[in-house]
Amino acid sequence: MSLLNDIEPLKQTALAELKAAPDLAALDHAKGAWIGPHGKFTALMKQLGSLPKEEKPVAGKLINAAKIELEAALAARREELELAAARPKEPTDFTLPGRRRALGRLHPLTQVTEDIVRAFRKIGFAVADGPEIEDEYHCFDALNTPADHPARDMQDTFYLMGRASSPEGKLTPTGPASGASVGETPASLLLRTHTSSVQIRVMQSQPPPVRIIVPGRVYRRDNADATHNPTFHQIEGLYVDKGVTVGDLKGTVEFVFKELMGSDVKIRFRPHYFSYTEPSYEIDFTNALVKKMGKDWLEIAGCGMVHPQVFETVGYDPEVWTGWAFGFGIERIAMLRYGINDIRLFYENDVRFLKQF
Ligand code: DAH
Repeated sequence: MSLLNDIEPLKQTALAELKAAPDLAALDHAKGAWIGPHGKFTALMKQLGSLPKEEKPVAGKLINAAKIELEAALAARREELELAAARPKEPTDFTLPGRRRALGRLHPLTQVTEDIVRAFRKIGFAVADGPEIEDEYHCFDALNTPADHPARDMQDTFYLMGRASSPEGKLTPTGPASGASVGETPASLLLRTHTSSVQIRVMQSQPPPVRIIVPGRVYRRDNADATHNPTFHQIEGLYVDKGVTVGDLKGTVEFVFKELMGSDVKIRFRPHYFSYTEPSYEIDFTNALVKKMGKDWLEIAGCGMVHPQVFETVGYDPEVWTGWAFGFGIERIAMLRYGINDIRLFYENDVRFLKQF
């Protein structure tokens, strides 16, 4: 009879202790003291066997019910204590500024490209685009670059295995199965060596006047060093209208570079040769930064008045239309602008470099 009488008071004490456990360690301790293998309540259950037969069912029932109650109390207290442990120790100051997620930023080449595009948009230029996998027709032939021109040397770029049908220049790789049809001159596909190919694509797709710029990636078979990389970026420009002059070209280039690099910029045109312009120039650039590098001028672009032969090729009447074109190297400009001394830094994607812009 004494065992039956013990159950209730023992349970009450255990419940009180579990509910009052101040932290998880104390709770575990209480659990061990009562319902662990050597706990006081467990000991009670062990005594069940020594009871007279007729008392066993009642005592068993009572003990089981009490055990269930104790385990529930244990779980409830554990939940409370775990929640309390997860709460911040200090009161929360809701007036503190929030934690900002670190934002990525635009690559310096993208920033420079966007700035150049923005400057040209101010004076009415639209952005055009063309494929990086080009054919010889758009890259060379239509730009009045004959087959024996040094720029067409196989060494100068990367040729692809496919073939395109020329002169429309649709990029239709012709494996042995497709076979070029009679009368078509098959032209090799290549990675474009300059963005000038897009001049042809644009002029063939619309009548004059034209006022476009073409930012894009180009490819040359150069070994990488501090100033060369086999892929780099250019911005092509093309302006076709009636009565366009070298003066317009010079004024435009000067405007854009002042927008980009500040008002102390000076521009110089040096006579040069490009097969798709006549006359042709190289553009030199100088400002305080260039002087600081110990140089008088830096070459940054090629340009010239669109060659009449190019107009003939695209079906523009060279007696009516005149125009100019240029090609800037974007890396060159970015290096100058930010004082970067190695072109390869642009392509390594090292965040320590990128995060400075
Ligand atoms: N395509 C030339 C190059 O990659 C740059 C260039 C020169 C573009 C003269 C032009 C131009 O449009 O008129 O070096």
